[in-house]
Amino acid sequence: MKLNKWTLLVLAVVCGSQLKAQSLNIIPEPFHVAKGTGVFQFPKSIAINAPSSANDVTDQIALQLRKATGKTVYFSKNNASINLDIIKDEVLGTEGYTLNINAEGITISANTNAGLFYGWQTLQQIMPSAVYAKTVQSNTNWQVPFVSVIDKPRFGWRGLMLDVSRHFFSKADVKVFIDDMARYKYNRFHWHLTDDQGWRIEIKSLPKLTEVGAWRAERKGKWMNITTPAINEPKTYGGFYTQEDIKEIVAYAKSKFIEVIPEIDIPGHSMAINTAYPQLSTTPNYPYQVNAGDEFMDWEGINGHVTARIDNSLDPSNELVYTYLDKIFGEIAPLFPFEYIHMGGDENAKNNWEKSANVQALMKKEGLKNQNEVQSYFVRRVQKIINSKGKKMMGWDEILEGGLSGDAAVMSWRGIAGGVEAAKQGHKVVMSPNQYNYIDFYQGELTAEGKVYSGLRMKKTYSFDPIPEGIDSSLILGNQGNQWTEQLQNMRNVQYMTWPRALAIAETSWSPKEKKNWNLFSKKVEAQFDKLDAANVKYAKSMFDPIVTTQLNTKGELIVNMEGEVDGLKICYTIDESMPDNFSEVFTKPFVLPEDVTILRVIAYRDGKQISKLLNIPIESLKKRAVKVL
Ligand code: ACM
Repeated sequence: MKLNKWTLLVLAVVCGSQLKAQSLNIIPEPFHVAKGTGVFQFPKSIAINAPSSANDVTDQIALQLRKATGKTVYFSKNNASINLDIIKDEVLGTEGYTLNINAEGITISANTNAGLFYGWQTLQQIMPSAVYAKTVQSNTNWQVPFVSVIDKPRFGWRGLMLDVSRHFFSKADVKVFIDDMARYKYNRFHWHLTDDQGWRIEIKSLPKLTEVGAWRAERKGKWMNITTPAINEPKTYGGFYTQEDIKEIVAYAKSKFIEVIPEIDIPGHSMAINTAYPQLSTTPNYPYQVNAGDEFMDWEGINGHVTARIDNSLDPSNELVYTYLDKIFGEIAPLFPFEYIHMGGDENAKNNWEKSANVQALMKKEGLKNQNEVQSYFVRRVQKIINSKGKKMMGWDEILEGGLSGDAAVMSWRGIAGGVEAAKQGHKVVMSPNQYNYIDFYQGELTAEGKVYSGLRMKKTYSFDPIPEGIDSSLILGNQGNQWTEQLQNMRNVQYMTWPRALAIAETSWSPKEKKNWNLFSKKVEAQFDKLDAANVKYAKSMFDPIVTTQLNTKGELIVNMEGEVDGLKICYTIDESMPDNFSEVFTKPFVLPEDVTILRVIAYRDGKQISKLLNIPIESLKKRAVKVL
């Protein structure tokens, strides 16, 4: 079908109905979906007809269909069940596609292979969930409903970040993370490769970065609350990627139409570098070791500035730092074809810079009035190095402090303020605000999930819009979720924290704003659980756990409120220490908790079946979370 703006509009008006669209449960919601009547039944053997230029996509389709259906899949122009077409259509852009399924078969059309790939992702979502399986699912009725989809993304940057420093994840793990992203049309993988707890990328000219910087003493337990290792304790925990590994991952991501953005987090978060090369810090004689998760920073700091008891910054006054960074970025740039390199720039404690005579001398020489200007000087030097390697620089929003120039782009994480300011200054922006998009935060009831910094319900993640009022929207590259791994020691745990919240970020990043609707989305999420199961992805069901909040009134009474994150929950509870069931007290309105109650136990039911976890919330936690009402 040849498309132009008019056909798109007419189709949208004639066929567009949210309800019809939703019954297919596609995430992210397409630009336009119209469900037909009837189904296409896959034949015994499946023929695919596609131009050879689309082989990168066609091969993946054939592989997955063979694996899950056990059918013969072959390439033929005749009697094809699946047709892939490269077309020329200005409306679809570089990532859009159309998907049409009718009695004749399935046709995906796009301007590019990326579009075909996204059409394939949508097709899989409307096929039986078993399509995601890694082994033949012989009891499946392989059919798909008739449908017409016209789709294209809202944003060109649809990202997820993975921190591989706080815990190292193998190449195979990283591929799993990328596979999971691809299913939901993410196209940017931000790889946080360095931090205080490990340097993870081979730099051939600076071998100690990985020989020393990639390894630390092993610790279990709660991050920043664990025992500091003795300096001579064996450093056996960690790992790194060789440059060959990096090339393999970048190529793998590319095959899923995902660009990789490497992050080298400097000048702060550099304990691993300082352990490998202490001469790069302002305290070169300090007996450094790669941090094992024990506390060394004061995050509240002095006058609101983070302070580091052990200097984890690079010395901005030391020319050797820039020489080494030139080597580092010189080796990194050719490994990553994407246009941006991320230089971190966040949470740099400046208390050790303040104490350094060399930094004072630098300030005098360069006319730098304060530590923010020192950081800005450092950032400008790094930007020059990155630009000299043919790349553009990106950094966390702290890089704005003290002034930012050139084509640097800003990743806004401390809310959206940095993004707004950056856009006002004409810089490109990726929105990644911690209040909405930090998917390392615990996602349901605190006492059931364990504390990780702060809580973030998926409903809040879903409510985010990346384009603030009053700024040039063309400067907003897109939206990103961040998976920090302080508390995540393996990929199953990473998946649990990522999904389903990353479905919300995917929909915000891809779908038209007008198509977003939490109630419909949360139902689609439930339908995705089956698919995530088929793909062996671990995920959280925290959205079924009631949100329990408390208020302390002027009489000193604790008032309990409970609400469902999703519709249709019956919330049952006890305050007499007994286990709740479907016949326990049903929450209908906020109530005063009697004085001597020790524990609130809660279960949510739907259609008579337990759907939430059993929440056991001690009185101390209820008191601690109370908001005071004056
Ligand atoms: C950050 O979360 N420190 C970027």
